[in-house]
Amino acid sequence: MAAKTGLLRTKDVDDVIAQNSDEGPSDRHHTRLSRRLRARDLMGFGIGIVIGTGIFTLTGVQAKNNAGPGIVISFLLAGVVSLLAALCYAELAAAVPTAGSSYTYAYTTIGEVFAWVIAWDLILEFSLGAAVVARGWSGYLQEAFGLPRAFFGEEGSVVNLGAVAIVLVLGAVAMVGIKESKWVTNALVVVKVSVCLFVIVVGAFFVKASNLVPLIPPTAPPADGGGSRLTQPLWQFASGVEPAAFGVPGLLVAAAVVFFAYSGFEAVANLGEESRDPAKDMPRGLLGTLVICTLLYVGVCVVLTGMVKYTDLSEGAPLSDAFDQVGLGWAGLLIGIAAIAGLTSVILVDIVAVGRIGFAVCRDGLLPPSVGRIHPRWRTPYRFTAIATVVIAVLAAFVPLATLAEMVSIGTLFAFFVVSIAVAVLRRTKPRMPRPFRTPQVPLLPIVSALLCLALMTSLAVETWLRFLVWLAVGLAIYLGYGRRHAVLAGGRGRAGDRAEGEPEG
Ligand code: ALA
Repeated sequence: MAAKTGLLRTKDVDDVIAQNSDEGPSDRHHTRLSRRLRARDLMGFGIGIVIGTGIFTLTGVQAKNNAGPGIVISFLLAGVVSLLAALCYAELAAAVPTAGSSYTYAYTTIGEVFAWVIAWDLILEFSLGAAVVARGWSGYLQEAFGLPRAFFGEEGSVVNLGAVAIVLVLGAVAMVGIKESKWVTNALVVVKVSVCLFVIVVGAFFVKASNLVPLIPPTAPPADGGGSRLTQPLWQFASGVEPAAFGVPGLLVAAAVVFFAYSGFEAVANLGEESRDPAKDMPRGLLGTLVICTLLYVGVCVVLTGMVKYTDLSEGAPLSDAFDQVGLGWAGLLIGIAAIAGLTSVILVDIVAVGRIGFAVCRDGLLPPSVGRIHPRWRTPYRFTAIATVVIAVLAAFVPLATLAEMVSIGTLFAFFVVSIAVAVLRRTKPRMPRPFRTPQVPLLPIVSALLCLALMTSLAVETWLRFLVWLAVGLAIYLGYGRRHAVLAGGRGRAGDRAEGEPEG
């Protein structure tokens, strides 16, 4: 049942729950995903997608250029913002378990056009995230095996064939099914967590207290001498202050950039339709993922900047290089190989997430329903996953890693912003909706969460904002040209042959 009309029409929460419940309509047209995942599987997915280039690469870059040893504060700050958003996600993910995540939450609260914008934003976040990490993966491969930079590296890159190859292989794995993806991912997660623990425990013996002071180096001109106004953080640009690195402004810039390291945990919420008991498993999966990742990140940051003076950190492979610098070359190689494995799982879960979001959008008729169809045997949205895989491969082939990483941060923060607002709105509009998990301190916590997301977004570069706005404008054009007229809520058919709205098969 739809409330309101036009762009702000909303889905009824009860309809969404009924559509996804086991008592819902028959699934003989292959439009529902199977319920197989437990809390620990969700955490496996979460950690698989969260720990990646953020901790393996961006830590060194941001400590060296913006934050010094204070990078640990930047990671903590970004972790706190993620945790607040996760508390909001947990309430909605448990109450409205669905493949669409924040897209569906927005659909039930603030209206269809906003829901579409969120879906479009999430597609950007996960597609670009996969492309970024694929290029990082290719770079580690180049480093480990001395492959040609033109086809595997960043500098002098012609076309990144390594990134294209890994995206195509993992796209195929994602299409074949969640079961296979789950086991591949879980194996890689163990490797990745082990590496972080190894860095923390073994590296701790090489920490020098003198490397950690001053914790926050004094402000200084940026390495590029100020660069273009377009590369300035939005708030600095808007307030007209001189561009600066280090000090508190540097910490904030680093926090916004390393937010990338936390992006992806909300992909757990996209698996709502596939978890056995979403009411319990969703909050556990989301919060467990985030707490584990934050602890590992903080440990790695302290040890890394304690082992090597921040000015001497490597920007390419900082963790491996730190062990090289203290005379443990074998450990550096081990970390490099494990990084390749770890990055593989991030790419895989990103591609799985894009497929899930596409499935939800097509089901609602905002994109052609046939594109979101579930494979009868694999039980995955195979067509959308295939299309996304090709697009990701093209991006990974030609677009530089750094350009894409900030886009992922702004997209993630925007999605968190909307989810936080949705929690507060839904408490007012649907006070009696069953909430197996309740976000504490509503509306204070969601409001603080939304404001912190906005604050971090303003620490991102002006050019990142411009690119993001262009992406949203393209999305809006697609909605006005197609989705608005074909949506199920507008009388469209949505997913092919679906009986959810009680219509006879056409
Ligand atoms: N959070 C993921 C990473 O750090 C995207 O690679």
